[in-house]
Amino acid sequence: MSADGTAYQRAAERLCQARRVVAFTGAGISAESGIPTFRDPGGLWEQFRPEELATPEAFERNPDRVWAWYQHRRRVIAAAEPNPGHYALAAMEPHFEEFTVVTQNIDQLHQRAGSRRVLELHGSILRNHCHRCGRPYEAPNLPEERAPTCPHCGGRIRPSVVWFGELLPEDVFAEAEQAVARCDVLLSIGTSGEVYPAAGLVWQAKLAGATVIEVNPNPTELTPAADIALRGSAATVLPELLRRLCECRQKLSKAG
Ligand code: OAD
Repeated sequence: MSADGTAYQRAAERLCQARRVVAFTGAGISAESGIPTFRDPGGLWEQFRPEELATPEAFERNPDRVWAWYQHRRRVIAAAEPNPGHYALAAMEPHFEEFTVVTQNIDQLHQRAGSRRVLELHGSILRNHCHRCGRPYEAPNLPEERAPTCPHCGGRIRPSVVWFGELLPEDVFAEAEQAVARCDVLLSIGTSGEVYPAAGLVWQAKLAGATVIEVNPNPTELTPAADIALRGSAATVLPELLRRLCECRQKLSKAG
């Protein structure tokens, strides 16, 4: 299904009037970069059990297994490039007084595409720290199969991502809540909206009076919060939305 012209026009006009925008993103925006999502058919949580790979208990039971799985995901992410969806968001940034990407993704493709204000709610797969003492861990070469040992306390090293049952980084989440509270438009892109507290940000934006625009080929748990739904893939919809936003801004500047 693709987004119809009226929905695009309404979305572009709303964006054109906005001063502060939040782009709330999930795995779907990176799907066209070749990084699998979690809950789509064939997604990661269909192939693997999160309780065996993405919880602190799983890591404590079998750190090497969890480490090896994240090393595999690191290789997939390292081979990926940002797609036109990521680039369109980066290109939207200068059009607004404030433009914040709030992402659940751990792949850093927004930063690689040039977005400058990115809040990573679920951490980053490119960083590591000690599961016991919390100190950051850096090494030129990481082993593939065995979780390294912390040189300070002997604990095991883990990727700096948020697992099920763990708290989100408090300062990052607080910043995201502030951005959401003052935004005029929230774009909800490529997320199923099934994971909280992240998904709650969309409802917070809605309650604070923002226009919510959903970009997703499918309806989601967040569709009831959406004022406008652009049904299509992020790499198709976002460049078109950017094009229409630029057109609208040009018209305004000519008129003014
Ligand atoms: P999901 O896998 O739950 O949802 C992916 C969404 O992307 C679905 O709604 C798809 O319809 C949509 N989608 C697929 N292809 C798309 C495309 N090309 N363009 C736009 N949308 C597309 O992923 P998330 O919502 O990100 O958490 O999942 C949230 C969290 O659950 C993740 O951050 C991760 C996971 O467990 C942790 O690891 C803590």
